[in-house]
Amino acid sequence: MCGIVGYIGGQAATPILIDGLTQLEYRGYDSAGIAVLGPTGARRVRSVGRVRELEAALPKRLAGKVGIGHTRWATHGAPSEANAHPQAADRSTDAPPTTVFVVHNGIIDNARALRAALEADGVELTSDTDTEAIAHLIARADADTLEEAVLATIARLTGTYALAVLDTAHPDRIVVARNGSPLILGVGDREMFIASDASAVVRHTSQVVHLDDGECATVTAGGFHLFTADAQHVGKAATTITMTADELELGDHQHFMLKEILEQPQSLERMLTGRLDERFATARLDGLNLDPQALRRFRRVKILGCGSAYYMGQLGAQLIEDLARVPADAEPASEFRYRNPIIEPETLYVAVSQSGETADTAFAVQEVKRKGGTIVGLVNVVGSTIAREVDGGIYLHAGPEVAVASTKANTHMAVGFALLALALGRVRDLSITDGTRIVKALKELPRQIGEIVADGDKVVEAAELLAHAPSLFFVGRVRGYPTAREGAQKFKEISYRHAEAYQTSELKHGPLALISPELPTVAIVPDDELLDRNIGALHEISARGGEIIAITHDGVELDARLTITVPRSAPELDPILLMIPTQLLAYHAALALGENIDKPRNLAKSVTVE
Ligand code: F6R
Repeated sequence: MCGIVGYIGGQAATPILIDGLTQLEYRGYDSAGIAVLGPTGARRVRSVGRVRELEAALPKRLAGKVGIGHTRWATHGAPSEANAHPQAADRSTDAPPTTVFVVHNGIIDNARALRAALEADGVELTSDTDTEAIAHLIARADADTLEEAVLATIARLTGTYALAVLDTAHPDRIVVARNGSPLILGVGDREMFIASDASAVVRHTSQVVHLDDGECATVTAGGFHLFTADAQHVGKAATTITMTADELELGDHQHFMLKEILEQPQSLERMLTGRLDERFATARLDGLNLDPQALRRFRRVKILGCGSAYYMGQLGAQLIEDLARVPADAEPASEFRYRNPIIEPETLYVAVSQSGETADTAFAVQEVKRKGGTIVGLVNVVGSTIAREVDGGIYLHAGPEVAVASTKANTHMAVGFALLALALGRVRDLSITDGTRIVKALKELPRQIGEIVADGDKVVEAAELLAHAPSLFFVGRVRGYPTAREGAQKFKEISYRHAEAYQTSELKHGPLALISPELPTVAIVPDDELLDRNIGALHEISARGGEIIAITHDGVELDARLTITVPRSAPELDPILLMIPTQLLAYHAALALGENIDKPRNLAKSVTVE
């Protein structure tokens, strides 16, 4: 979704802003723009399309050591140059005239009323955006300082925002504010960076300050001053981010998605380091902030996430029920908050999110906290909104995920749930023998994933076959069902083919009617206690002319057009390994179709609006 960058310091701002916007491209956007304040005044350049189109539209010389930039994902108004940010408002009454520029992420709920009031006051609005109203409110505020003008304006806004404001009347500063949309400051040597996402500043500094909701800051070349909406000073030190610029490079890979699938063995190894306690056959999860007594107290687990994270929550709930025998379920966070959920003191709530910025999940966390529940997070991005709001958690340590379609973060979520299930199980009735079995199986996962990704020929063949089917099913049962759901999701996201997941057992209750030679089925078939039943259901498909691509274990005989096998793990962990070929299937199908794999249409990497 939308991205913000800003710079103030001793260097030319334009290349830094363009580079920052390029780093944010992965989030998804439809237009981009920058405003730079130089010795001869301010220049704003905006364009529809990619950052490279903006770059091409820049004048040869765009001097200035302070500026702000934005990639926009249309919410209020279509993608157009007029709607792109920075939005501007002139103070023509000033001598000489001055201009306020604003970049904004989020959605202002009362924009319509604010725009109407401005128009009634004679302001001519030039865009359809909520952001333009913010720029005019700041420009018209009866205030002595830019900070006061920003505070007076945000007091009139309802909704979510991360704002960066540049004012030609105050060329020595950028003022920023945050409420519900991420914003960080990067601290350099006599220079400061502003970004909605650490990836935009990581080339310049590893020292960052995360703004919390309700916080504003004055950013100058010499540093920053944080304050609240009632102008109270906030003391906050910079923290060090571990992400490096190299992790954001494509290297020899054609796509980030493939790079991220292939790096899972190393990233998982890193995630597991120090977290497995072989002596007591459990997981060491200090970040949960829950001692054994506290872990025993919970009688239920409720997992909240969106999209693929929700499917991983379903997989996690099954793991928790299997290993800890605690009732567990997952629910889309996007629905949870709106059904006035009952928050139980003896339930452990778990928010799961790669970005840690998904608005629906962040709101669900707030709902649980507001009602006094205990919520922990399985989050990838360190210092993100959700990671900071939860009571404790397990960082996923998957490293940056750039491709819009999530792969390695999903695997890390599943493994995170396995660790949580193990810890919950071992303070209950999971025996040391079973605990040891799971610890051993977890330790094997990185190597086994390495084997799966190295042996891709069958997957490529299957993907090419599936790519040309107008529609397909993914089926699995019990432990295999979340894997099927995630497989279907990945496939449709990047190949634009209709893919639907069903429980294998449900086929005969309706969907079997659709089976024909034109509708192939990807079947997740672990070698477990349900194997015979799965085989029976697959016969029903092939008897009706349906083609089957099976993802199963070595030695399992199935009536399938193609069989892809994965190594055996502990049965509870099998769904994790069975998921890896579904990532490759989606990737190779999209490749065969020539689709834009890393940036699928209509989708954004982190969905920071509701
Ligand atoms: C699927 C995908 C989305 C995300 C969902 C949640 O490939 O990427 O379904 O899983 O938007 O995002 P996070 O995990 O960042 O909360």
